[in-house]
Amino acid sequence: GTLTPFTVPLTVPQTLRPVLRTATTDYYSVTMHRRRLEILPGTRTEVYTYNGDLPGPTIRATSGRRVVVRQRNRLGMPTAVHLHGGATAPGDDGSGTATIPPGGERVYTYPNQQPHATLWMHDHTHHMEAEHLYRGLSSLYLLSDRTEAALPLPRGQFDVPLVLRDAHLDADAQLVWNMDDADNRTTLLVNGRPWPRFEVQARRYRFRLVNSSNLRFFLLQFADAAEITVIGSDGGLLEAPVTVPYVLLSPGERVEVVVDFSRYQPGTSVVLHNLMGPGPFEQVGSVMRFDVVPARGGGPQLGAAEAAYPAGAADADRTAHRRAAHGRVRHRAPGVHRRKVFDPARIDTTIAWGSTEEWTVTNGNVFMPHNFHMHLVQFRVLGRGDGPPDPTESGLKDTVVVWPGQPVRLRATFDTWRGVYPYHCHMVDHSAMGMMARMKIV
Ligand code: C2O
Ligand code: CU
Repeated sequence: GTLTPFTVPLTVPQTLRPVLRTATTDYYSVTMHRRRLEILPGTRTEVYTYNGDLPGPTIRATSGRRVVVRQRNRLGMPTAVHLHGGATAPGDDGSGTATIPPGGERVYTYPNQQPHATLWMHDHTHHMEAEHLYRGLSSLYLLSDRTEAALPLPRGQFDVPLVLRDAHLDADAQLVWNMDDADNRTTLLVNGRPWPRFEVQARRYRFRLVNSSNLRFFLLQFADAAEITVIGSDGGLLEAPVTVPYVLLSPGERVEVVVDFSRYQPGTSVVLHNLMGPGPFEQVGSVMRFDVVPARGGGPQLGAAEAAYPAGAADADRTAHRRAAHGRVRHRAPGVHRRKVFDPARIDTTIAWGSTEEWTVTNGNVFMPHNFHMHLVQFRVLGRGDGPPDPTESGLKDTVVVWPGQPVRLRATFDTWRGVYPYHCHMVDHSAMGMMARMKIV
């Protein structure tokens, strides 16, 4: 069917309520099941869900407090849940061979011994992760800490996650799943809504942009090319905000931004464009529309102090949080982007616990961008090709774009869990086809 863009209102995923809270731990219960949801108005689309929603409900966690999630699988095929960006024990990483059988359940423990960050959960069933994610198995996991809570940022209804993805819908509005089908996935969804509109007050908002697409990159720019203040990356808030004309998000990446809608007259609408293909501009060239209404009193301050947090504030407890990195830095160039069949029993690289390593990640393809994601760690981007990282990559990252012919240098410290974890391209169709390798921390 044809849909007039910007007619469906944006919705924000619900916050999941714990079934139990103790002094140390929040307990949650999630059920995976199929559901027919209204994506295009007037029709129902069958999706796989966490608790019946697309994306699933958001878990709000706090550093230092444990989260335990009981995942019940009512989907009829094996699943596995991964907390993307989280430092979790190997058995709770969702990437091993242990899956949740149909009708079964599994309890995942997330220690949250790491600083604030916008994390997300998604399916990671070996070889099936691409289809499962595509059919809907993803949700947000927002981790806060004292540093983040103390910063003068927009909060509550002014702190809005925007989970972006694409989909290939057939004439009956059903999801079409084909591996590597990027060209046909031209319906854009934000929080599960097609090209939505969102009413915003003429004030500052914090948006947590998440790309949950399998393959699509987004290059986001406002129609009036207004500046965007980037405040955070995958692993949390930047040391200081960075102002940019557009924001690039490859699959799996998160970018946090502050947008000041007080620069618009109430009554103004501003479209968020996507400047990157594939797909016709009429379809993939716009993501959503913001409709500006007058600011209502009360709530957090509207002033310029928001987002103008002092340099170093966001990073302050990260260094304290980590043990000092000892030992010599080992340099290596992992071979994840050479296509070889992924063997889940193969260990591609062994890392001594406590060490800091620098990796150079190369994309040997001539045309296609890829990206690179490591489980367990947040890394620093040291450089791109001969140059520095992009300013928006100055914070902690777990997923990074790798353009053809432009090696990316990273540094990571392996001082949390021991065990086997994967690293892979997060264009999930690629990882499901074998662009994945495994590291063992010993
Ligand atoms: Cu978000 Cu191994 O994945
Ligand atoms: Cu790839």
